[in-house]
Amino acid sequence: MAQMLVPGRLPRHIAVIMDGNGRWARKRLLPRAAGHRAGVRPVREVIEACCRLGIEALTLYAFSVENWKRPRAEIQTLWVLLRRYLRQELPELKANGVRFQTIGRVDALPQAVCDDIDNAIVETSANTGMRLNVALNYSGRSEIVDVVNGLLRQSHRREAPMQVDEAAISDQLYTADAGDPDLLIRTSGEYRVSNFLLWQIAYSEIWVTDRYWPDFRTTDLLESILAYQKRSRRFGGLPDEAPSRQLVAASK
Ligand code: FPP
Repeated sequence: MAQMLVPGRLPRHIAVIMDGNGRWARKRLLPRAAGHRAGVRPVREVIEACCRLGIEALTLYAFSVENWKRPRAEIQTLWVLLRRYLRQELPELKANGVRFQTIGRVDALPQAVCDDIDNAIVETSANTGMRLNVALNYSGRSEIVDVVNGLLRQSHRREAPMQVDEAAISDQLYTADAGDPDLLIRTSGEYRVSNFLLWQIAYSEIWVTDRYWPDFRTTDLLESILAYQKRSRRFGGLPDEAPSRQLVAASK
């Protein structure tokens, strides 16, 4: 399938709502933790495939602000998996030139998790390859609140009243360096955005698969990119060929 992709039309930034770990486990009469453990393999596969394809940025939704409502033991499992992942995969991330970053209010995570995150950020900070954003304690609405507070702080430092435009907001987003996602993937068949990158996905192409996240494979990623390449992105304008037709019509 990779041969069918058009190299010049790859999404620059892919974002993924990894969903369905719990249902994957329930279907197998396993505890939810087993679903999260099985969810690490596709994380690894997707990162590796995106690196090989030359995707510039990948943003993975790993833990939302709302996920604190889950049982303590499940949350603990997620931290254990994240820490293990960071320790085991750091050499591979470095070898692939990945620049690891997080988005979200990460300071609220347990100190040991923050330490491993900081280490991975520092160790990969000089890399110039794919930017990997892992969303942790993330919520699109709280990101917008953080943006507004950042702008208010800027405004207080100025004498004259400050005018805010779209660019000023985009510059303050957690993902400012990565740009907006071109493609948003969601697994487990749910048609929701779940408070993810609310500002950034204004014009993202959305691709939903019924597959639960632990079953998501490189072939699914390639299928999503193929679907993306067939879309006509109009950003509120007209399809690519339409302007010339309009000109012809206007000149008649
Ligand atoms: C959603 O499934 C998944 C999560 C909330 C956690 C995602 C975590 C991983 C994939 C594991 C490790 C991550 C990294 C970055 C190493 P769900 O539990 O909401 O599933 P359900 O909707 O079926 O209950």
